[in-house]
Amino acid sequence: MSKILFFGKGGSGKSTIISLLAHSLTRKKYKTLVIDSDESNVTLYRMLGLNPPSKTLADFMGGRRQVSNVLFRGKGELNWKIPDSLSFNDIPGECIAWKSDLGLLVIGKVGDYGSGCACPFNALAREFIKKLKLKDREIVLIDTDAGIEHFGRAVEEACDMLLLIIDPTYESIVLAEKAEKLAHQINKRLYLILNKVDIETEKILREKLKDKNILGSISYEAEITRKNLAGEPLENIKLNAVEKLVDKLTTIINES
Ligand SMILES: Nc1ncnc2c1ncn2[C@@H]1O[C@H](COP(=O)(O)OP(=O)(O)O)[C@@H](O)[C@H]1O
Ligand SMILES: [Mg+2]
Repeated sequence: MSKILFFGKGGSGKSTIISLLAHSLTRKKYKTLVIDSDESNVTLYRMLGLNPPSKTLADFMGGRRQVSNVLFRGKGELNWKIPDSLSFNDIPGECIAWKSDLGLLVIGKVGDYGSGCACPFNALAREFIKKLKLKDREIVLIDTDAGIEHFGRAVEEACDMLLLIIDPTYESIVLAEKAEKLAHQINKRLYLILNKVDIETEKILREKLKDKNILGSISYEAEITRKNLAGEPLENIKLNAVEKLVDKLTTIINES
């Protein structure tokens, strides 16, 4: 099974698409764990319709400073040692929120002003994701902060596949070029999802992005905007485009 890292410019729709895919995957009986590795946004749990886990992984392990000391300086100890072969069942209950087959784990959040950079969270995410061993019909979707800043912090090396969310902006087209080179360097498969498109913008994007692996596209849906504005879950939004995406994704995963 597969660990899929989602990335793309801020506001392109990473969290939204992860939520739509996660709901569809669980309807298709895939046990789906969403890992929130975006250290600033705090609303993913709402889109998923889950309660937030009682602790972030970083807090559970002793806090940002402690994680930093252990992972970067080899000083001290963490409150929990991540087993070398970690299954869903081994994840401490305090760090994970499950609702039937849909789970959420949050790596860490940057809280108050001056609380420091997110590097320890990225290092922790890499360790955790690397050690996670998936069984049949288990899948992990990883939400990240904007752009490709986490490339080079090596979170992506712990994943099996990269998914770039493209909204109809010039910035996204530029990002796609960069991402292709980076994915090639680290030898990972890269797929694109077009988001918030209409007939015209989809046509333009497909022309600009030719030869790239476009998995599918999701149009601009006022219902999505409304639900997100209200802080409501995206669970009941069922789109053909999303079902098609999930079918393609699971076919790719099952073939590899
Ligand atoms: N297909 C879509 N149709 C309409 N609005 C969308 C769509 N995808 C995302 N949005 C809106 O765009 C905004 C940013 O989405 P979000 O998922 O938070 O982006 P990211 O996680 O990439 O920063 C949200 O307000 C969301 O409601
Ligand atoms: Mg987001």
